[in-house]
Amino acid sequence: MGTLTVIFLCLAAFSLTVECSRLTSSKSTNSKKIVCYFTNWAQYRPNEGKYVPEDIDPKLCTHLIFAFGWMKKHKISSFDSTDETKNGKKGMYERLVDVKQKNKDAKVLLAIGGWSFGTQRFKEMASNRYNRQLFVFSAIKYLRDRNFDGLDLDWEFPRGGDDKKHFVSLLKELREAFEEEAKDKKMPRLLLSIAVSAGSETIRSGYDVPAVAAYCDFINIMSYDFHGKWESQTGHNSPLYALSTESQWRKQLCMEFGVKLWEKMGAPKEKIVVGLATYGRSFTLASPDKNGMNEPTRGGGKAGTFTREEGFLSYYEVCDFIKKGARYVWDDEQKVPYAYLGDQWVGFDDEKSIRIKLNWIKENGYGGAMVWTLDMDDFHGSCLNDKKYPLIGAMGEELLGHAKRPVSDLDALSKKVIKTLPPTPAPILPKEVLLVARKKDDDTEEIIEIKPDPDATNARIACYYTSWSMKRPGQGKFQPEHIDPFLCTHIIFAFASIKDDTISPIEGADTPSGSAKKSLYDRVLALKEKNPNLKVLLSVGGWISGTAPFKQITKSGYRQSLFVFNAIEFLRQRKFDGLDIAWEFPRGAEDKEKFTNLVRDLYEAFVGEAKAAEKPRLLLTAAVPASFEAVAAGYDVAEINKYLDMLNVMTYDFHGNWERQVGHNSPLYALFSATSYQKKLTVDYSAKEWIEKGASKEKLIIGIPTYGRSFTLKNTSLTDIGAPAIDGGIAGNYTGEPGVLAFFEICDFLKSGAILVWDNEQMVPYAYKDNQWVGFDDQRSLKTKVQWLKEAGYGGAMIWSIDMDDFRGTCMGLKYPLINTIKEELKGYNVANLEVLSSNVLNSLADKDEVVCDEEDGHISYHVDKKECAKYYMCEGKRRHHMPCPVNLVFNLNENVCDWPENVDDCESVTGGRKPS
Ligand SMILES: *[C@@H]1O[C@H](CO)[C@@H](O)[C@H](O)[C@H]1NC(C)=O
Ligand SMILES: *[C@@H]1O[C@H](CO)[C@@H](O)[C@H](O)[C@H]1NC(C)=O
Repeated sequence: MGTLTVIFLCLAAFSLTVECSRLTSSKSTNSKKIVCYFTNWAQYRPNEGKYVPEDIDPKLCTHLIFAFGWMKKHKISSFDSTDETKNGKKGMYERLVDVKQKNKDAKVLLAIGGWSFGTQRFKEMASNRYNRQLFVFSAIKYLRDRNFDGLDLDWEFPRGGDDKKHFVSLLKELREAFEEEAKDKKMPRLLLSIAVSAGSETIRSGYDVPAVAAYCDFINIMSYDFHGKWESQTGHNSPLYALSTESQWRKQLCMEFGVKLWEKMGAPKEKIVVGLATYGRSFTLASPDKNGMNEPTRGGGKAGTFTREEGFLSYYEVCDFIKKGARYVWDDEQKVPYAYLGDQWVGFDDEKSIRIKLNWIKENGYGGAMVWTLDMDDFHGSCLNDKKYPLIGAMGEELLGHAKRPVSDLDALSKKVIKTLPPTPAPILPKEVLLVARKKDDDTEEIIEIKPDPDATNARIACYYTSWSMKRPGQGKFQPEHIDPFLCTHIIFAFASIKDDTISPIEGADTPSGSAKKSLYDRVLALKEKNPNLKVLLSVGGWISGTAPFKQITKSGYRQSLFVFNAIEFLRQRKFDGLDIAWEFPRGAEDKEKFTNLVRDLYEAFVGEAKAAEKPRLLLTAAVPASFEAVAAGYDVAEINKYLDMLNVMTYDFHGNWERQVGHNSPLYALFSATSYQKKLTVDYSAKEWIEKGASKEKLIIGIPTYGRSFTLKNTSLTDIGAPAIDGGIAGNYTGEPGVLAFFEICDFLKSGAILVWDNEQMVPYAYKDNQWVGFDDQRSLKTKVQWLKEAGYGGAMIWSIDMDDFRGTCMGLKYPLINTIKEELKGYNVANLEVLSSNVLNSLADKDEVVCDEEDGHISYHVDKKECAKYYMCEGKRRHHMPCPVNLVFNLNENVCDWPENVDDCESVTGGRKPS
C-alpha cells in the first residue's frame, strides 16, 4: 500500500473557512478506499426499491461490506435465511462475493453488529478471552468458507472502562489470529475494519483510539445520524461543519468535529474512512412556515414509499420529494442541502455536498470514504438524466479518479433558495436514563459446613487408565467397568493424540460400539455417574505420539490458539473434566519456552471458558519426567507450576532392560554405595529436584508404578542390585512386553516360588527365580513411599497404571491391593495449601445434589437448591450459605437473582423442587 504524505500549513486553525495550502505531496499511487455497505434487507423493499447484489456496479467501490451477519453463542452465524447458499440456490453472501469476478481488486467483508444487534452480545463475547477466542476462530472459518476478504465489527457501542479494554483485546486477538492464519495458509490476510461512532462522548468513553487503530486496517467513522426524529427540532443528518450559531454542545454534532476527534485522539489519517450517507433524515414540522434549521418539529417525517421508515428517506425518495415540489435549500455553513414541502422537512446529501465532503477528505489526507448504503443511492438512475449511482459515483470520481460524468444538480429540479433566516439556538438534549440493575436480597442465615472426619484427606490419587489394556489376553483383559469409581480421585485416560490442530482419539475410543452402544470414552466417563466427585481427564501425547504433534501445534501462535480452542470444545462435548499434557519430552530452550506458553495458554483459556460457561474450570495437568537431566533440559518449572493443577512426576523407569545390569524400577532412596550420578536416580531425589526448581509441594504428585521392570540374569548366583544382566526379563503372559511385568504377573511369579528380597537401602522389593529378576513395588514399599510423601507434604500419588494392579484380586483376594494401600495410607492426611477437597477416600456416600463450596479465595458463586426452587446456595470461598428468596420468587441461576417462577424454566412453582434437566 503506497503511503500518501501530506503536510498542511493551516493559517486559521479553528475557523470554519480554513485556508490550507498544500506544501508537499508525495506521489499518490491511489490506495484510497470507497467502502460501501450492502444490506441484506434491501431485497425486501417493494418494486423499484428492491436491491440485490447484481444491482451493484462492480467498479464503484473498493470495498463492499455485507450488513449484517449475526452471532450465536459468541460464534458468527447468518441472520437472514437468504444469506447462505443452500439447496443449490445461491445465497446473498455468495452473490455479493461474486462481484469480485467482475472486479478482481474489490474486497468483500462481512459486518457483524449494527444498531438492532445491540450491545449486549458484544459485551458478553468480548468480556473474556475464551468467548473472544470462540468468536475469533469461528470468524476465520466462517469468512474463509464463504470467500470473504475480511471482517467488519459494528459494535454500537462499547461504553465505559471494561468495554473499552475488552474491545481492544478483541481486536488484538482477531488481528493476531488473522496474521498467523494467513502465514500458515499462505493466503492474503483477512482484513479487519470497524464501524465507529462520531459522537464525542461515545468516542471518549468507548475507544482506546491508538490501540483500536493499531489493530484495524481501517476505521469507518459513522459521521451521520447527528440529528434526527429523536430530537424536537430540525437538524441535518450529516453536516460537514457546524452552524456558527449553535450551542457549544451541538457544535460537536458534525462530520468535521467527529472525524477530527478520532484523528486528535490518535487514529492515523490513512486509516480514517469518513462515513457518508445516501439517505436523509426527515421531520414533520410543527409549523410549515418555520422550515429552516433548528425549527420545532412534531416527530419524524412520513415514511418513504420504498424504505418505509418514519423519519428517514433514501436519496431516490428525496429526489421524488423534490420532484413533487419540495423547496431545495443549500446551507452554506454546514455545506449540505435540505428540502421542505408543507410540514415535511428532510436534511440529506446530494452530489454537491458529497463532492465537497470528498474534497475535504482529500485535503485532510484521510484514507477514504465509506457509504451507508449502496441500496439508497439512485441505483436505477431514475432521478436525473438516467445517471446511476450519482452519489457513490461522485465519490469514485473525486477520490479514485474515475471518469467524471456531468454533475446532476438536484437544485435544478427545485427553485434554489439560499438560506438567510438566523437559526434558533437549540437546547441541550437530556441525558440517557440509566437502568438500575436488580439487586439481590442478602438477608440469610449462614451455614458453615463442618466435616469432622478424622480420615478425610485432600490428597489426590490420580490413576492413569490405558486403553490398550483391554487388548490383553484372558485374565489380563481390563475393561473400564473394572475400575472402582471410588478408588482414585482422578482417572486419566491414556492416550489421545493430536491431529489437524485438535485432539485425535485413538481408533474407536470416540465411537459407540458394543451392545450398549457406548464409546470407550463414555464407558470411562460413566464412572462419574457412580461417583460424581471423580474427575476424568484425557491425556494427550505419551511416548507413542512423541514430540511431533506438540511441535506442530506450538509452531505458531495461531495453531496453538486453535488447538486450545478445539481442545476445550472436544473435552466439554464429551464431558471430560480436564486435560493432561503428556509431551514426552520438551528438550532445549525453544521447547522449554513453547511448553510453558502452551500450558499458560491452556490455563488462561480454561479460566475464561469456565467463567463464560459458568462451569467448574477444566483441570490442567502434565505428566513430567523424573530425571534431573530431563527436567533441566525442558522445563521452566516455576512458570509451569503457576498453571498446572498437578505435576504428575513419573518417578519410575529409573532402571530397566536398556541397561546391562539389574536395577530397580522405582527406588525411593539410593544405595549407600551408589555413585553420585546413581544417587540422583531415585523417587526422593527427583521430587526434591522439582521442588527446588520451583514446583509447589501440593501440586507435586508422586508417580507410583503398579508394574516392575525385569531382567534376565547373566549368572543365576549373582542377584543383587547391579548384577550383570543379558537382557530384559521374559515378557509377562498378559502384558506381553519383555522387561515389564504387571503387578498381577509379579504375583504369579512370586507364587511360582520366586525369592522375595526387601532392599533396606532403596526401600523397595525385588524378586528372582532362575535367571529371571524383577524390581517392583508392593504394599510394604508403598506404605513407606506414602509415609515419605506425607512427611514431605506432597500433593498425592499418581498411579501408572490402574490396569496393572491386581484388579481381579486373584493374588491375595483383595482387589487393587496396591492402590488400596496407597488410599488407606493417605487417610487423614492434609495436604497443606491445597484448598480443593478432591478426595474420594471417604466420599462414597456423597449426595450427588449437594452443593460443595470449593471456590478459590473468597470468591462468590451461586447454585440452585435442587430440592427447593425458592432457595439457593451461595458459596463464599468454602463457606456455604443456604439462602431463601423473597416471598413468591424462585431462584434464577441464569441471572443469579430471585425471579418470578414463569421466568425460570425448571421451576413450575414457588413451593416445588426443580425439574430434572
Ligand atoms: C557366577 O558367579 C559365581 C559367584 O561369583 C561364580 O563363582 C561363578 O563362576 C559364576 N558363573 C559363571 C558362569 O560365570
Ligand atoms: C505363562 O504361559 C506359559 C505358556 O502358556 C505357561 O507355561 C506359564 O505357566 C504361564 N505363566 C503363568 C505365571 O501363568
